[in-house]
Amino acid sequence: MITVTDLRKVYQQGKKEVVALDGVTLSVPKGSIHGIIGHSGAGKSTLVRCLTLLDRPTSGSVSIDGTELSSVRDSEIRAARRRIGMVFQHANLMDSRTAAGNVAHPLELVKTPKDRIRTRVAELLKLVGLEGFENAYPSQLSGGQRQRVGIARALASDPDVLLCDEPTSALDPATTDEILDLIQDLTQRLQLTVLIITHEMNVVKRVCDSVSLLSRGRIVEHGALRDVAGDLDSQLARALLPLPASEPLPGALERGPVLEILFSGDSAKEPVLTGVARRFDIDINVLAGSVETLDGQQFGHLRVQLAENADLDAVLAYLRERGISAKRAAPAAPAPDFADAAPPTSVPSTGEQGGNE
Ligand SMILES: Nc1ncnc2c1ncn2[C@@H]1O[C@H](COP(=O)(O)OP(=O)(O)O)[C@@H](O)[C@H]1O
Ligand SMILES: [Mg+2]
Repeated sequence: MITVTDLRKVYQQGKKEVVALDGVTLSVPKGSIHGIIGHSGAGKSTLVRCLTLLDRPTSGSVSIDGTELSSVRDSEIRAARRRIGMVFQHANLMDSRTAAGNVAHPLELVKTPKDRIRTRVAELLKLVGLEGFENAYPSQLSGGQRQRVGIARALASDPDVLLCDEPTSALDPATTDEILDLIQDLTQRLQLTVLIITHEMNVVKRVCDSVSLLSRGRIVEHGALRDVAGDLDSQLARALLPLPASEPLPGALERGPVLEILFSGDSAKEPVLTGVARRFDIDINVLAGSVETLDGQQFGHLRVQLAENADLDAVLAYLRERGISAKRAAPAAPAPDFADAAPPTSVPSTGEQGGNE
């Protein structure tokens, strides 16, 4: 369990103060995966640095299973940091070391006996599906395999928390899915508490149990995936169930009101539009639609255009009575996109940076 309470980080830029984190509070239960999504400059990297104690928060607290990290003395920082495994966008492996040598590195740093290191490294490589790759060098591995080595290294110190900073942003879609499945599997098997920093909504969709939207240092939306996805006013819902921009279809309905409708759970099983068309005796055109299963529940997001003579207020009331979120919309409102939050991809994939030191 990781708990962040009222975390604040202020940087001094010359005479100016920059508030990078402003009262961030979140809590992630053991065995679950929390996604943090946000635009560039939102404070994601600052949050990572505060969680890994690379940066001291200005105020507020971070605790892991009840142990307060922010009050740890400098001499104990290394030990505290070992409770957090870090997975980076580029695996940051040491080129001069084999897969086994990379995974061994954090264990060598704390002077683990040699034979213990050997068995532990074999265990870890097996855990991430890399049995038989002990002696391969990073240059001989695919991007996905390198990330697996990075994950094995992050797990070497038996951490409670896995902190993944854009773990799949440098991978192709198929490899992304593989790595996310691995992270999900490890979360359950090892009962880890996992935070994934990402700008990709697909990552959130595939593995996160809950999600926070970070904006200008503040968490502006958060919740279980199935809760945020059911609310039309939520930016996260709009990004989870994106609708393409659309133009009114030329023809009979061209000047009618446009509605956005979001239904979930039981209401997703009802023939809602047919109900509206029958009840009000009007025609309806679907302009755009998105249907997803999130967290085991079905969600649908539609943009529809009603006949010009439709009684909009009555239709909205009819839908809301049935537990369906609906509101008048612009025909072409685009879905929010967090892609500009992507960190630069030109960072070299290597470097002697090691892992959990
Ligand atoms: N070391 C620093 N000194 C001064 N300002 C910083 C420092 N690190 C980050 N900032 C500022 O804090 C804000 C959040 O940055 P960052 O955490 O890097 O955002 P993100 O990772 O979401 O893009 C930005 O306005 C950034 O300019
Ligand atoms: Mg960043």
